Amino acid sequence: MAVVESSGYAHRLKDIQSFKVMKLLARANQLQSQGHQVVHMEVGEPDFATPAAIVEAGIAALRAGKTKYTAAQGIPELREMLSRHYAEEHGVDVAPSRIFITAGSSGALLLVSALLLNPGEGLLMTDPGYPCNRHFLKAFSGEGQLVPVTAADGYQLTPTLVDRHWQSSTRGVLLASPANPTGAIIDEAVLQAVAAGVRRRGGHLVVDEIYHGLTYTARKPTSVLAFDPEAFVINSFSKYFGMTGWRLGWLIVPESAVPEVEKLAQNLFICPSSIAQEAALAAFSAEARDIMERQREAFQARRDFLVPALRELGFGIERMPEGAFYIYATMPAGLAADSETFSDSLLENHYVAVTPGTDFGFYRADEHLRFSYAQGLDMLELGVDRLQRAVAAYGLS
Ligand SMILES: Cc1ncc(COP(=O)(O)O)c(C=O)c1O
Repeated sequence: MAVVESSGYAHRLKDIQSFKVMKLLARANQLQSQGHQVVHMEVGEPDFATPAAIVEAGIAALRAGKTKYTAAQGIPELREMLSRHYAEEHGVDVAPSRIFITAGSSGALLLVSALLLNPGEGLLMTDPGYPCNRHFLKAFSGEGQLVPVTAADGYQLTPTLVDRHWQSSTRGVLLASPANPTGAIIDEAVLQAVAAGVRRRGGHLVVDEIYHGLTYTARKPTSVLAFDPEAFVINSFSKYFGMTGWRLGWLIVPESAVPEVEKLAQNLFICPSSIAQEAALAAFSAEARDIMERQREAFQARRDFLVPALRELGFGIERMPEGAFYIYATMPAGLAADSETFSDSLLENHYVAVTPGTDFGFYRADEHLRFSYAQGLDMLELGVDRLQRAVAAYGLS
C-alpha cells in the first residue's frame, strides 16, 4: 500500500492483484528456455491452433485491405451471424442490434462494468471465480462482492446465497457457466430462480457464457437469454473457437441499454479488430465446426483421464467438472503448507506448472489447485508421472 501511495498512482491499484498464473507462465517459459521440458497445466487457452478456415478468412481480409476502423458495435455480417447462431442453437430471438462485438470477452466485461456500476457499488460473484472480474469492477471504483461457493452449491450461486449476500450496494449478479476454475455448469432451474430473484430486486444479471460449446454432459447448457431477455450475456471467440490471440468476443445487452453501451464502446475502443471480425465470419462454417467438435471430444478424453489420475494421487475433486478445461482440486492433506508453496515447488523441482487456488479468490484458496487440461494426453500423462513423484517426495504415496 505504501508503495502505491508514494508512487502517486490511483488508490484503486492496491486492490488489483496481478494474475499469478501469468507470473507462473513466465517462470515456466524461462525454465523451458534453459532446456527443461515443462508440462503446462496452468494455461487457460486451448493448445489447438485456430481452425484453418478462420485463419484463411483472416488472411483474405488482410489482402482485401479490410484493415480500417469498423462500426463501434462491430460489422453487421458478424452480428447477424451471431443472431442466427442464437436462433439455431438456443431457439432465442436476439436482434443483431443488441449484439456488440468486443475485444475478447474482456472487452465485454469492461463495458458491462462501466455501464452498471457507480463508485462503491458491486456485483455478487462466486469465490472461487475468474479473478479479472472483480478487477474490472475495481477499475470503475466498484467491487466484486465475493460469495464463497462449495461443491454442495455446485460451485455456483443459488437463490439462497444471492438472498443472503445481497447488500444495499449490490447492483446485480455476475456468474459464469461453465465456470473457471471449477468447470461447473449452473443447473438451468437454479439459473432461472437466480434470474427471477435478481429481477425482483431490480438488479442486473450478467452471465459469462465463454465456455459454452466446451461441455461434456449429455445436456448442453442453454443461454440465459432463453428465459431472461433482460440479462447481459458475455461470450468470446477465444476458447471454443480457439482464437485467444485474435482478441474477439461479444456482448448481448437489453435493447434499452444499446445507446449507452454504444457510447461506451465508441469511447473506450473505437471498434474491435477489423481483421479478427472478418476471420470470425468463418467460425460457424461446417468445416470449422467439425474441427471444433473434434477438439471438444479431445478435451473430454483428457478430462476423463486426468480426473481419476488426480484422485488416485490423493487430490480431492468433489464434483466432476462438466465444462471448460479445468479441474479444481484440493491438495492431499500434508502435501505442502499452501497451494502457492506447492505450485512453486512443483514447477522448480518437477517442471510441472499448475495454478494455485489463490488466483481465483480467497475461500479455501490455499488448499486448492487448478489443473488445466488444455494440453495433449501425452503431456498430461507426463504431468501425472511427475506429480506422483512430487507427492511421493512429501512421503504421501
Ligand atoms: C470465465 C472467463 N471469462 C472471461 C475470460 C477472458 O477471455 P477473453 O478476453 O480471451 O475472451 C476468461 C479467460 O480465461 C475466462 O476464463
